[in-house]
Amino acid sequence: MIIAAIMAGGIGSRMGSSAMPKQYLPLGGKPILLHTVEKFLVHPQVEHVAVLTPRSWISHTKDILKNSAAQVIEGGETRNDTLWNALRYTEEAFGGEDDHILITHDAVRPFVTHRIISENIESAQKYGACDTVIPATDTIVESRAGTLISGIPERKTMFQGQTPQSFRTRKLRALMERLSEEESAILTDACKIFVMRGEPVAMVTGETHNIKITYPYDLKVAQALLGLDPAEGGAL
Ligand code: CTP
Repeated sequence: MIIAAIMAGGIGSRMGSSAMPKQYLPLGGKPILLHTVEKFLVHPQVEHVAVLTPRSWISHTKDILKNSAAQVIEGGETRNDTLWNALRYTEEAFGGEDDHILITHDAVRPFVTHRIISENIESAQKYGACDTVIPATDTIVESRAGTLISGIPERKTMFQGQTPQSFRTRKLRALMERLSEEESAILTDACKIFVMRGEPVAMVTGETHNIKITYPYDLKVAQALLGLDPAEGGAL
């Protein structure tokens, strides 16, 4: 089975919208989350879409998705916990012995494309795991202590991570099971688990416009990308 897990379990603290987590904010007349979910629902290779949300937002999310085939389930405290829930759900619903492709995607990246999803499926099938990335445009500067620069890696070897990140479920389960408590606490990126254990992770080329809505500024950019007037939130 090819399953998409839409990661919507966060509270969006950096967005500062106290009424609701950012994935429920309107973008061009509908919640950001719905834009994202629709991209997966219309993809012909994606066989099932699960949406993971904070417990207190489950019924609101079911309401938003009531006319769709997407399944709403509970997310976790951290993004890693949400990933665990997605993996467990996949195994329970579609069989833990079988190998599935799990496409994990940020609910707040509504501009994911058909091509990116197709290439994620192909790469995860071939390599076991893949990450969506774009070449770094700015020079990346490293500072271990936060005051002085400790390194400036060569820019052409640097990429910025986006999502989706996609995995073969049996391999993901085997690697996640072996994590120590300390590793689980610091590993915020699922692909890093594979890299740490020397397992291959293929790169899928993302898009500059596959932005993550993190701050109010990003919501304005998203409105502009949809051809809406960022000042009004309406059509230009
Ligand atoms: N996410 C999740 N479960 C969590 C935390 C985050 O599914 N426990 C999801 C978010 O809902 C979001 C995606 O992971 O779609 C990317 O995370 P981020 O942008 O950091 O979202 P938040 O954690 O909601 O934002 P903030 O860090 O500002 O609180």
